[in-house]
Amino acid sequence: MTTDPTLVLLLSGVNLNLLGDREPAVYGSATLEDHADTARSAASALGLRIEHLQSNAEAELVEAIHGARGRCGSIIINPGAFTHYSWAIHDALAAFDGPVIELHLSNPDAREPWRRTSVVAPVATGTISGFGSDGYRLAVEAVARLVGQPSA
Ligand code: DQA
Repeated sequence: MTTDPTLVLLLSGVNLNLLGDREPAVYGSATLEDHADTARSAASALGLRIEHLQSNAEAELVEAIHGARGRCGSIIINPGAFTHYSWAIHDALAAFDGPVIELHLSNPDAREPWRRTSVVAPVATGTISGFGSDGYRLAVEAVARLVGQPSA
């Protein structure tokens, strides 16, 4: 298997399947599929492809990160609340060679104190948070540059 630099794994963690319905004052009214579409459009304009998985199960996200090794060029991950305590996701991302973007719709640093800890940040190339849906476009643009897409 060879790594495809144009293939981006987009991972959505726990509770993000409820977007659109869940706490709209915090997360907005767009659904997760709307955000994935934003990422797909940005990706296709930059010659990238998105593979998207949402799961409420930590193990499934860890397996997906393992599956990206030697196959995907980059990972964009909004882990949901796993951000704040999943050392398993931290370790899986540490074993991935390409760029990793940590993504949040809200700005966790401006919310409850327990959200100020991210165990993903130390293994992320960078973090995009607080820009709502636009963050999905920004994250794709960031990976395009990081993997050296000519049009980025
Ligand atoms: C979130 C922020 C997390 O603190 C929270 O647990 C989420 C969503 C965001 O996208 O803003 O579920 O990752």
